[in-house]
Parts: sequence; C-alpha cells; structure tokens
Amino acid sequence: MIWSKKKERSTRQPKEMLLNEGTPFFLTEAYRNLKASISLSIPKKQDGKAVSFFITSAFPNEGKSVISANLALMFALSEAKVLLVDADMRRGTLYKYFSLPHKPGLSELLSGGASLEEVVQRTSAHENLSVICAGSSTPNPYELLGSDSMAEVYGELSGRYDYIIFDTSPLGMMADSLALVPYVDGAAVVCGYMSSTYRDLKGVVGKLQFSRCKVLGVILNGYEERGRGYGRYGYNYRYGEAGDGAGN
Ligand SMILES: Nc1ncnc2c1ncn2[C@@H]1O[C@H](COP(=O)(O)OP(=O)(O)OP(=O)(O)O)[C@@H](O)[C@H]1O
Ligand SMILES: [Mg+2]
Repeated sequence: MIWSKKKERSTRQPKEMLLNEGTPFFLTEAYRNLKASISLSIPKKQDGKAVSFFITSAFPNEGKSVISANLALMFALSEAKVLLVDADMRRGTLYKYFSLPHKPGLSELLSGGASLEEVVQRTSAHENLSVICAGSSTPNPYELLGSDSMAEVYGELSGRYDYIIFDTSPLGMMADSLALVPYVDGAAVVCGYMSSTYRDLKGVVGKLQFSRCKVLGVILNGYEERGRGYGRYGYNYRYGEAGDGAGN
C-alpha cells in the first residue's frame, strides 16, 4: 500500500511506495488510467522505435520520482519493454525505489566513464523494467543531456525498448529537462497538491511549449479526498493540453 494518510508520507521507504499486491485498488486504477491516457496521446512509432516522455514539475518534492517509478512499472506490467532513466543528475533518487546501486549511472555514461551495459540495470520489480540511475552528481546536467553522447545513447536505446521514461529535475527551477526535448514525444507535468499554483504551472507549461515540447497533461499528486471517513491521497490527470486549471 502506498499513498495513504498524510502523516505517514514522510515515514515510508521509497520501495514501499512502489505498486504492489497490497496497493489500494483506487490507486492502481489511477495509475492504469494515467498509463492509458499517456499511451493514447503518443501514438506508437511506425519504425518500432521507443515512445518516450519525461516527467517534470515546477518545484522539488512534488512527486515526480514516485510517479515516474510507478508509471514505468505500470507500462512494464502490460508486457512492454520499459527503460526508466533518472535524468535528475543533481539529486537522483530512483535507485532507492528499486534498491539499486546509485552509480555508475547516466552521468558516468554521458561523460564517458561507463558503458551502456554497465549502467542499464534490471529490476526485481518486473522483468520488463530496467533502470538507468542518475550516477554521480554533476554540476552541468544540461550540457550532458544536450551532448553528442546523449544523441548516440538515445539512438541505441530507442531501438531496444518500447517505452523510455525520464524522471527529471523541477523545470520551474532549472532548465535541465529541456535538453531532452529533441528526443522525447512529450512531457507530463506533476503538480503537488497545495504546492504549485496555477501560475507556477503556467510557467512550466509555457517553457515546454516555447521549446516545442508536446505537453501531455498535468498530474495532480497528493490530493486528499475528504468526506469518506478518512483522508487519502490520490491523483488526477488532466488530459490534453495542459495549463487549463489543474492548479490549486
Ligand atoms: N501522493 C503521495 N503520497 C504520499 N507520499 C508521497 C506522495 N507523493 C510523493 N510522496 C513522497 O514525497 C517525497 C517526494 O516525492 P518525490 O521524490 O517523488 O518528489 P520529486 O518531485 O521527485 O522531488 P525532487 O524534485 O526533489 O526529485 C517522497 O518521500 C515521496 O515518497
Ligand atoms: Mg525526484
């Protein structure tokens, strides 16, 4: 079971946040809907290359990493071959969700310190799900993501997987994720409930649109539903063009 009462939020270990048999139905269903909405908004490629997108938000701690991890798992459960890439090379956390070594990871790969074979790690969460962790923290993620080695690596990976999902740093604070725009089919924006305002979201969506990145939608995370006898966390996905009011 993952998202439940607010007071438990900080005490849960990342790996306990992954979807599992004990996850409440409403939450698994919400992820299923999210996966379906994203699949529908990005058509499969004629040439068989991977469909790819990144997840961003205005600010830190809005739930990008937990949503990226569970979404990747959801795609893997539908028999697709999935690669989840921790492109937050400032403070990547995906290794915690899958109990993997943090490095070597993307930063070593892009700076020539490790090979693709060394950084792609299989997970025990699902046989179809592999992860590239962020690796050592680097002061220049934008440059690494925009480098020729990224183009080379992406070209190689897009022939091996059905879906490539990038977890990124908050676009409201740093531009790193924009370096991925040439590679991906779109981006989804996470909005932490009571965290980003409508204006913050508009700023992020504006940056994506200015970079000609397709905005897949806004994911409202941590919304506490009341009036059912107990508070619970869930999320909502606004499908289609974002910026239409998923803020607080
Ligand atoms: N809906 C939720 N219910 C309970 N806990 C949550 C929820 N969403 C996120 N969390 C928790 O909040 C913390 C921040 O989430 P997460 O690391 O996914 O955010 P992030 O946007 O990736 O942050 P950063 O920008 O720092 O990478 C984590 O401890 C995570 O487990
Ligand atoms: Mg994160």
